[in-house]
Amino acid sequence: MADFDLIVIGAGPGGYVCAIRAAQLGLKVACVEGRETLGGTCLNVGCIPSKALLNATHQLHEVHENFETMGLMGAKPKVDWDRMKGYKQDVVNGNTKGIEFLFKKNKVTWLKGWASIPQAGQVKVGDEVHGARAIVIASGSVPTSLPGVTVDEEAIVTSTGALSLPKIPKSMVVIGAGVIGLEMGSVYARLGTEVTVVEYLDAITPGMDGEVAKLLQRILKKQGLNFILGAAVQKAERTKKGVTLGYALRKDDSAHEIEAEVVLVATGRKPFTDGLGLEALGVEMLPRGQIRTDAHWATSVKGIYAIGDAVTGPMLAHKAEDEGMAVAEVIAGKHGHVNYDVIPGVIYTTPEVASVGKTEEQLKEAGVAYKVGKFPFMGNARAKAVFQADGFVKLLADKTTDRILGCHIVGPGAGDLIHEVCVAMEFGAAAQDLALTCHAHPTYSEAVREAALACGDGAIHA
Ligand code: NAI
Repeated sequence: MADFDLIVIGAGPGGYVCAIRAAQLGLKVACVEGRETLGGTCLNVGCIPSKALLNATHQLHEVHENFETMGLMGAKPKVDWDRMKGYKQDVVNGNTKGIEFLFKKNKVTWLKGWASIPQAGQVKVGDEVHGARAIVIASGSVPTSLPGVTVDEEAIVTSTGALSLPKIPKSMVVIGAGVIGLEMGSVYARLGTEVTVVEYLDAITPGMDGEVAKLLQRILKKQGLNFILGAAVQKAERTKKGVTLGYALRKDDSAHEIEAEVVLVATGRKPFTDGLGLEALGVEMLPRGQIRTDAHWATSVKGIYAIGDAVTGPMLAHKAEDEGMAVAEVIAGKHGHVNYDVIPGVIYTTPEVASVGKTEEQLKEAGVAYKVGKFPFMGNARAKAVFQADGFVKLLADKTTDRILGCHIVGPGAGDLIHEVCVAMEFGAAAQDLALTCHAHPTYSEAVREAALACGDGAIHA
């Protein structure tokens, strides 16, 4: 007799959501987590603490850039870094405690410790072996580094170290112009650090719509971030003052050096499956370290499933959550489903960047006939009132059928605005469906409607 119907390994957004949904579906569920707190990378050292620092530093930016314009006079606040980190930690604590509450409410047992799987149907935590009819691996990911760059979490840090630096550095080099690099780069630039982002490719935010990437780079440059693109980082050496970073420009192979007090390595993450005993179990892996799964998240070993950053697909908390819910449904004998074509991506800079579906580049490559409806926030009254008129909504629709194929937004609240397009796409909507929907005035969301109108007879305010 199994002790549990389901044991989930890992209490990040994939694992804890899976555990809660399975419990709601009537299964007896345990979730193993070795950290002191629940929530995984996202809540402890990822999405949530970074949002707290982005919020605090955005407010600071507003004080310096816009308060006097609005007639708000007075002494400018000074940054108390320790207090700011305290605020960040309070936000983390509130959220991780919240998951603990949800586990209790849903009768999910938290098995504290690091799990291994001695054989299918069993999970070992510490000295105890627990039986499980099904096992879901939701063990997440860890940051990767580069050859020649050794992370010490002091002067050469990952996102984890960057969230808790002992003092605000005078200078920082960020390796990688991806999501982490731009979010954390923004935080420190707003705190007065001289930030330089060194990126291997010739554009920032690889995979994003080209126009979005260009505009975002221009806006971030205005905010004080420096960019060195087309540069392959080769080594990082600790010095008395900080770090010397060596890179080669790809266009002519010329070698260069740059110094900084702190280097943030933000060149991606890799699945974390160490210590689970997967090799001995014969769980099939993919060449890049992910666990191979079928369309229902089953691994090659019966009764063992895997989701989230440990499997293929975008390394995003919400993708893991969706897989967590879906695999719980499958294990409970229902039909779990994730629509991988409608997974939004958001970068929480100011302005925010959000996208869903195909980019223009992807449509061109696939030979799809499409139309573009674009609307600048400059024509949105609400955005102008809050100094956030940089940016646009770009809606891509099928040229013949008008069906929405993708949307790319740079602008205020982009991370929230994108979801009306996600819902529309789930319903197979046409751009005209958005265009005919009444949107409250004055809201940022009117820009989405205007982009939809621009796919037809034209936007009103452009
Ligand atoms: P990323 O994959 O987004 O970006 C890494 C960047 O590093 C790429 O632009 C790449 O070209 C560059 N790079 C790689 N090697 C390099 C080299 N030798 N020299 C210079 N540049 C180099 O990875 P990132 O930002 O570390 O994020 C990791 C994961 O976490 C991603 O999957 C991301 O989606 C996720 N994440 C998501 C967030 C969100 O949804 N807001 C926030 C933070 C992370």
